[in-house]
Amino acid sequence: MSRLVLVTGGAGFIGSHVVDALIAAGERVRCLDALLPAAHAEPPAGLNPAAEQLTGDVRDPETVRAALRGVGAVSHQAAMVGLGSDFSDVADYASHNDLGTAVLLRELAARRFSGPLVLASSMVVYGEGRYACDRHGVVAPPPRGAADLDAGRFEPPCPDCGQALQPRPVPEDAPLDPRNVYAATKLAQEHLCRAWARELEGRLIVLRYHNVYGPRMPRDTPYAGVASIFRSALAGGRAPRVFEDGAQLRDFVHVRDVAAANLLALGREQPGAAVFNVASGRPRSIGEMARALADAAGPDAPRPVVTGEYRLGDVRHVFADASAAGAELGFRAQVGFAEGMAELATAPLRAPGPARG
Ligand code: UD1
Repeated sequence: MSRLVLVTGGAGFIGSHVVDALIAAGERVRCLDALLPAAHAEPPAGLNPAAEQLTGDVRDPETVRAALRGVGAVSHQAAMVGLGSDFSDVADYASHNDLGTAVLLRELAARRFSGPLVLASSMVVYGEGRYACDRHGVVAPPPRGAADLDAGRFEPPCPDCGQALQPRPVPEDAPLDPRNVYAATKLAQEHLCRAWARELEGRLIVLRYHNVYGPRMPRDTPYAGVASIFRSALAGGRAPRVFEDGAQLRDFVHVRDVAAANLLALGREQPGAAVFNVASGRPRSIGEMARALADAAGPDAPRPVVTGEYRLGDVRHVFADASAAGAELGFRAQVGFAEGMAELATAPLRAPGPARG
C-alpha cells in the first residue's frame, strides 16, 4: 500500500503542487495548512480533492500530533515567505518558521519517526552568490553600499583588489550568509532539522529552492518574488520595472519541477542529512526574464523598462550549481524557460496573501 505523506503548507503555492505530484504518483496525502486569511484572501482554489485537508497551525502540538497519525513521510513546506517589509515582522517569522519547525520536530521525535523529512529551504541562506576574482580565486564580497548603487555601480568588486568579479554557480557547501530575517529563519529551520536528523538518526533532505515561478503564484505582492511582480504588472497593463541595469542573474525554476524534486527527495533512501539546490541550472538575467514574460503576454503588452532603481539589501547575482541534485536525486528540471514564462504569462495567479506560503 502507498505511504501517507504529510505536506505542511499544502494549500500554498509550492505545497499545492507538491500535493498534486504526490497524488499523481499514487501516494496518499494529508495536507496541513493554517489557511490564514492573511495568506489566503479567498478560499484557495486548485486544492487537490484527492488529498485529505486539515486546517491548523503547525505551531500547535495537538494539531501536529493529529496530522502525523499514520504518516510515513513528511514534506515541510509551511512558512512565512519573502522579505519582511518591516522589521517588526521578526517575531512572526521566527514563530511561524522556527517555532513551527521545532514543534513539528518534537512530535516527530516523540513518534520515533525516522524520515524521510523534506524541508523546503531557500537560496536566500547563501546571501550573495559565488564570485571568482582572476587574481584571488573565490571571494565573498560584502553587501553593496548605497553610494555604489546610487552611482550605478551594481557589480560587487573583489574585496581584496577591487577588480571586477565573475559570478559563478553556488554549490551547496558555499558559506552561508543569511542577510535578512526570512533568510535567518530559513537557516535556523535547516539547523533544527539537522539536529533532529543527528540525534534521532532521521533521514532529512533539505531543498534550497531558487526562484520558483509558475501557476498559482500569489499575485500583486512583493513577497512572491520578481516573476509574480512582473506578471501582475503586465496583467494590469503596466510595464515591468527592471531594477539596477537588468543584468543581475537568478535561476528561475518552474514550480512543477520543484514538486518533482520534492517527490525524488521523499523517495531518497540514504540515511542521514543531505542538502540540494533545486534549480534549472541555467542562470537568466532579470532583464531577460522581463522580456520573455512581456513577449509571451502578446504584441500589445507594455515593454519592460530598466529603471536603475535598486533595493538596498538585494544581492547582485545568485544562481545554482544544480549538479548534486542531478547526481544524487536524479533531478533535472524539465520545464524550459520560454515555455514556463509563456505559461506564467497567462496562468491564473492566486489572490494576494501577504507573507505566508
Ligand atoms: C526571492 C525572494 C526570496 C526567496 C527567493 C527564492 C523576495 C523579496 N525575495 O529572492 O525570499 O527566497 O526569491 O525563491 O521575495 N526586481 C526588479 N523589479 C521588481 C522587483 C524586483 O527588477 O519590481 C529585481 C530585484 O532587484 C532583484 C531581482 O529582481 O535583483 C530578484 O528579486 P526578488 O525575486 O524579489 O528577490 P530574490 O533576491 O531573487
